[in-house]
Amino acid sequence: MQLSSRLGDMKPGVFHALFERRTQLLACNRTIYDLSVGTPAFLPDAHIVHALSEAAADPRQYGYAMAELPELKAAIRSYYADRFGVALSDSEVTSVHGTQEGMAHICWAICDPGDVVLVPDPGYPIFTDGPQLCGANVVTYPLFKEKGYILDFADLSPELCERARVLVVSYPLNPVCARADAAFYRELILFAKKYQITVIHDAAYSDIAFGDEPYPSFLSFPGAMDVGVEFYSLSKTYNFTGARLAFLLGNQRIVQALATIRSQIDYGIFLPIQRAAIAALTGDQSGVKARCQAYQEMAAQLTSGLVACGWPVQASQGTMFLWSGLPYGYRNSLDFTLDLMEETGVIATPGSAFGARGEGHVRFALRTDPSELDKVVAAIAAKREKLEKLAQAAGEEPL
Ligand SMILES: Cc1ncc(COP(=O)(O)O)c(C=O)c1O
Repeated sequence: MQLSSRLGDMKPGVFHALFERRTQLLACNRTIYDLSVGTPAFLPDAHIVHALSEAAADPRQYGYAMAELPELKAAIRSYYADRFGVALSDSEVTSVHGTQEGMAHICWAICDPGDVVLVPDPGYPIFTDGPQLCGANVVTYPLFKEKGYILDFADLSPELCERARVLVVSYPLNPVCARADAAFYRELILFAKKYQITVIHDAAYSDIAFGDEPYPSFLSFPGAMDVGVEFYSLSKTYNFTGARLAFLLGNQRIVQALATIRSQIDYGIFLPIQRAAIAALTGDQSGVKARCQAYQEMAAQLTSGLVACGWPVQASQGTMFLWSGLPYGYRNSLDFTLDLMEETGVIATPGSAFGARGEGHVRFALRTDPSELDKVVAAIAAKREKLEKLAQAAGEEPL
């Protein structure tokens, strides 16, 4: 039987393989510290759970939603106005079942087969898989540690820029935990205008950014609405990952194009989830700030613990992850991740899952409490000692 060539060399996600082994280890009563998938260990605030459960108890809420409740659009619009200073009309907002789904479909709305879509390497996998599924020609752009993982437009040849139709950008960036500054966003808009490229900005972690100032929206920079759109997800901000709700906001033509495509393939988001999202966006926001602070503390705790073990970790500027090089003796991140899991019970994600430039690295998700993190560091320290002995035997420096 012949399958679609769209599948290309797409394989089941790495998380499935890790999950299977995790299940086997747990069945053998092994202690597991799962720092792989980026689903927060925090729970949603009580007012969000209450709104969802109240709506879910009402049998009238189970029909096709067809579209967003007007209150949901009003809620996200006023959130963008208050939080980011961005004024949006109803037609500049549409909802999706999470950014993941939105990224999987948006190129159907804005690209033709063969169009060049530029995506970051390292970067989040759906940035590549989504455009590829709709036949776009995905070209990665390199992000360098020495440049703080910020896209340097000088690294893109003018010939490539002329051919490019879409540029996917995301900061704070998963997995490398880097944030961009205002100068970068201004340059991005000038660049997009010069080459008539559509910008898709994924703002999954704009509420988990470390620094004195709250992280801005791409749409808050002059001219952004002319050249692009932003995905804003409730997943990490409100510990809402399983509920699946995000928005595409910004340029009206693009937002409406996606809404039109989705109107043929989807009948709207389950109404109780919409009610919970309204509660999240309009309710008390103190939990959001507190969790950002907690993530920053967890990142610092894990960083200092790992650095003390001689681990090559870089300080995080945001997201719910930590990005690290591989220790002595390893070049392949999947081999390392599997060994780490077997030997210490700590599950991380191999950097290769985030593109060719992610190889040689590993990502830890900050999804545990401080006492557990200490145990993670202790477990990893044992692995480190083993590697040190190996290095000594080989007469080499371990890191
Ligand atoms: C950069 C980035 N974008 C999007 C997503 C997915 O977000 P959602 O839950 O809204 O699909 C994630 C999830 O980890 C992510 O890290």
